[in-house]
Amino acid sequence: PLHDAKNGKSWFVKPWTSFQAAASLPDKVPGYERVHVIKRTYFTISLFTQLRDLNSSQEIFVKSARHLISIILSEALNFVPFMPKIVNTPVDGATYTGLEMTDVENLCVVSILRAADSMADHISHHLPGLPVGKILIQRDEKTAKPNVFFKKFPKNIQAKRVILVDPMLATGGSAAEAIQILKDDGVPEHCILMVCIVAADEGLQLLTKRFPQVRIVCGEIDRGLNSQKYIVPGLGDFGDRFFGTN
Ligand code: PRP
Ligand code: URA
Repeated sequence: PLHDAKNGKSWFVKPWTSFQAAASLPDKVPGYERVHVIKRTYFTISLFTQLRDLNSSQEIFVKSARHLISIILSEALNFVPFMPKIVNTPVDGATYTGLEMTDVENLCVVSILRAADSMADHISHHLPGLPVGKILIQRDEKTAKPNVFFKKFPKNIQAKRVILVDPMLATGGSAAEAIQILKDDGVPEHCILMVCIVAADEGLQLLTKRFPQVRIVCGEIDRGLNSQKYIVPGLGDFGDRFFGTN
């Protein structure tokens, strides 16, 4: 088998080496073994500019967030296994040698509610039928410590690869809770791919120290946190701006 959860081989490793050169993986972040940041283009920077602008309306915020979610997730999905596939095109009997995502039945999403539903909905739209687990974690507004209120994971999650989504990685407290709960339910660290839009270096340091096997893909990495543990420069409260509850 391509994937073997028990002996830990080849999860999130590209099995088809001849495509590695052609398909570009998100860049590794210096100093981290398993942290990646998406390619910056003028277009992604313009989307981040709209997202971070305090004057952006909810409509603009949602539009730029959705666009970035699509770009970040498509880079993150590079770590899911693919198999070669040759198809016939309608022209002159020509063939095209491409790829097909494989082992999808052993893939699932876990969304850290509430803000991460913006990302989970995107995956469900493009990969319908993928099981989506939910875990409701809210930061205490005063202490910024995470509180876990609810979880419902797909059956047999311990045998699946988990794409864990949350747009903001600040102190890393919420993501660390979610990862620990996944591990307690039997999911090996190396089967977890965390995807976020903005990460603070503090959060990356906490997660990579506690869970060195977890792979992380983020859109941009910010310089730090303020005294209220908000990411700086950041974008404010993602959930409130996306859902219009600010
Ligand atoms: C936000 C965000 C993360 C968390 C990040 O959620 O979506 O879950 O904060 O902060 P941390 O890394 O310091 O834990 P929040 O608790 O504000 O709830 P929301 O999803 O309802 O916006
Ligand atoms: N949660 C957010 O939505 N934004 C931050 O900057 C920190 C936590």
